[in-house]
Amino acid sequence: MPRRAEPPREAVPAREQVNACRRCPLWHDATQGVPGAGPASAKVMLVGEQPGNEEDLQGEPFVGPAGRLLGEALARAGLERDDVYVTNAVKHFKFQMRGKRRLHKTPGQLEVEACSIWLEQEIHAIEPAVIVALGATAASAVLGKKRVALSTLMDAPVEKEGRMVVATYHPSFVLRQRSEESRRAAFERIVASLRQAARLAAGPRRR
Ligand code: URA
Repeated sequence: MPRRAEPPREAVPAREQVNACRRCPLWHDATQGVPGAGPASAKVMLVGEQPGNEEDLQGEPFVGPAGRLLGEALARAGLERDDVYVTNAVKHFKFQMRGKRRLHKTPGQLEVEACSIWLEQEIHAIEPAVIVALGATAASAVLGKKRVALSTLMDAPVEKEGRMVVATYHPSFVLRQRSEESRRAAFERIVASLRQAARLAAGPRRR
């Protein structure tokens, strides 16, 4: 029997579209918009906060220090970076100048909301079974809530529109820890969340 044709999927936003976005003022000082990256078949989508300095310059998500740490955590969790789709809640780098350095500034609610059309388009195009929100900004963007308690969410993945949402620390949180012990503990928490995401993605789909 011929298989019923699947309705065509939406495409992920093109680099030029994200780059041309003027929905909030962040484009003005950023080098470029940074769209997500990864295979269309990815079962796991990782959502960060916003591009950092390196990402802004290279135009790719998670290629700086936080990205390297994320790569290590993925490997520990048995996930290949090339198999997951990696993106951010906000697609332009928000920063403040300190001397010659561009220091990360947390995006505001209006910027997250303005950018949500791109994240939604990515979710509809990729249709991941599991979304991992890295940090509170990502969790709030993914869940469409103004405020989220990361600690509560980390203990209990939630279902949203047929997908599981796993929340965990942002890799930069690990890099900000002062002691080796707390760095290790935060890193292990991310690894555990990624393992959980991999298990959920391997299970039966909810829709
Ligand atoms: N931090 C993020 O949230 N995303 C990146 O792409 C890099 C650093």
